Amino acid sequence: MKEIRLFKPSVGKEELQSIQSAFDRAWLGLGPKVLEFEQKWSEFIGSGASVGVNSCTAALHLALSAYRFPKGKKVLVPVMTFASTAMAILYNQLEPVFVDVDEHTLGISLKDLDQKYTKECVAVMPVHFAGHPVQMDQLMAWAKARHVKVIEDCAHTAGGKYKGKSLGTWGDIGCFSFEEKKCMTTGDGGMISSDDQELLKPLRHARWVGINKDTWERHMDNGVGNLEANHWYYEISELGYKYNMNDLMASIGLVQLQKLEKMNRRREALLHRYLSGMRKEGAVKAAVPYVLRDSSYWAFMVRVKERNRFIIEMKENGIATGVHYMPLTLHPLFLRYQSDTPIAYRVWKELVTLPLFPELSFDEIDYILSAMNGFQ
Ligand SMILES: Cc1ncc(COP(=O)(O)O)c(C=O)c1O
Repeated sequence: MKEIRLFKPSVGKEELQSIQSAFDRAWLGLGPKVLEFEQKWSEFIGSGASVGVNSCTAALHLALSAYRFPKGKKVLVPVMTFASTAMAILYNQLEPVFVDVDEHTLGISLKDLDQKYTKECVAVMPVHFAGHPVQMDQLMAWAKARHVKVIEDCAHTAGGKYKGKSLGTWGDIGCFSFEEKKCMTTGDGGMISSDDQELLKPLRHARWVGINKDTWERHMDNGVGNLEANHWYYEISELGYKYNMNDLMASIGLVQLQKLEKMNRRREALLHRYLSGMRKEGAVKAAVPYVLRDSSYWAFMVRVKERNRFIIEMKENGIATGVHYMPLTLHPLFLRYQSDTPIAYRVWKELVTLPLFPELSFDEIDYILSAMNGFQ
């Protein structure tokens, strides 16, 4: 029997060498590597600027804070997402409005979005669920007409495109996750990207406890030629957080970014193997309509009516599974914001996540397929 894990980061000697060079420079904190990674990331996705942070949770928190929305305003968010998307709303003392998901894509339902919208709504946070793109052209047109800001939660995708344009560059701000299980990793880490450089400026301070000059900038100011005594001086004008990315993370990120295209293409090949090997009339169906071109899917999800029995059968075969996600309003914290989301409440009970990571082999997929196809 095989033992197959659910996710696995693809890291090796190139990342180690890159970390070694940070060790050699003996600058591990927020420094030049973060700056370099931010620039390369912006070039890669085609956005004006980026700010490196220590998680996508931090990215979502800061992105929403950029607009300084008055306390108590409402933010539209899909009910079936990881907690961080909605937590970011609470961190900003705003109120989440939970929107149902689309039956087929499992992303935010544009129909329900329109139904849940009120004049109190100031922003919407679409999530590209499993890496499957939300129909951003339609969403942007809808949001622009209502002056609603769009913050894309791209935690499940890195380098994926919709209609030829990178996910994370459709909205006003895009937030990415480099947590260890994601499409690319820095251990933990995140990125905020936007074309609006002015909007991002205060976030550079906010990620560094509100300080208007980070340690690296002060270090650079303290060069041999600088005989001023006040190189240490900085100001704090606004509330900030200890959310910065550091040079160790960025060292890994720069190497991962070079590998990202290859990893995304490998995920496409693996998904193709899964989808073409699944029994057409079987009890297990693909959870989203995977489009294997220009994609960056984080997870392979299926729908199975008898979920528990399926999970146990996979376990008996040494195949790890997961469930993403229980609708947030089923958690006590979000219960008070419960709204009518019948599709998510029905569909999530059928969702199972199966192994997907670049180093997964076709042999392993065939083994998983035989277990899946044998499930009656
Ligand atoms: C949809 C979504 N948003 C945000 C996050 C938070 O990402 P991070 O772990 O980098 O904070 C996750 C993490 O899994 C996620 O799945």
